[in-house]
Amino acid sequence: MLLRLDKILADTGLWSRKEARALIRAGRVWASGTPVIAPETRWDPDTAVLTVDGVPLAVSVRHYFMLHKPAGVLSATEDRRQHTVLDLLGPAERRMGLFPVGRLDKDTTGLLLLTDDGPLAHKLISPKYHVPKVYLADIDGRAGEEDIAAFAAGLVLEDGSVCRSAKLEDLGEGRVRVTLQEGKYHQVKRMLAARGKPVTALHREEFGPLTLDPALSPGSYRPLTKEERQALETLC
Ligand code: URA
Repeated sequence: MLLRLDKILADTGLWSRKEARALIRAGRVWASGTPVIAPETRWDPDTAVLTVDGVPLAVSVRHYFMLHKPAGVLSATEDRRQHTVLDLLGPAERRMGLFPVGRLDKDTTGLLLLTDDGPLAHKLISPKYHVPKVYLADIDGRAGEEDIAAFAAGLVLEDGSVCRSAKLEDLGEGRVRVTLQEGKYHQVKRMLAARGKPVTALHREEFGPLTLDPALSPGSYRPLTKEERQALETLC
């Protein structure tokens, strides 16, 4: 994946973005044998040979996987008693230091991003970036115009917390689609409960630019494609 040269340098943790730009402009950074003085030029850190003052840069390769989380496992890295999403991984992936980006409840199914890229994960779950998440919910009852308007206006939950404006779509008796731009604890279930429509099953279809791959059965996973990684990078 192509990334800005100043970002590649800053991602090593050795320099701030500002320091990286200064190094590059000073002609101290070479890419594949030639000096590069424009911080905004893009390089693939997996293939470009980068040096700073002639010293090769150790660029760590980061990993990104899309998992179809099944019901019954925790969105955590370890638990003494219960299975976690990491128990679904093969031996090679278990050695990568992956963790889930955000949480789905134990009984929630669907798209979960696993990575070892801490800075990106922090951005994706930060309220600052409003990353949209799309859920399909089975509910008792049917969503009507008043529910849709209440979601759009910003619901107040039973503990007094105020939700951002959210999109509620009626998909027929007992079925809705919910699009949120935040991630409070049990948020979808609590929002629908506040409208008297308890959730009986919950599934996440989308997370930011990612859509759950229909080829992934519950419990299976695959690496993100280059396009998907690029879409995540440009989001934040
Ligand atoms: N909202 C919920 O209530 N549960 C989830 O797992 C995700 C969003």
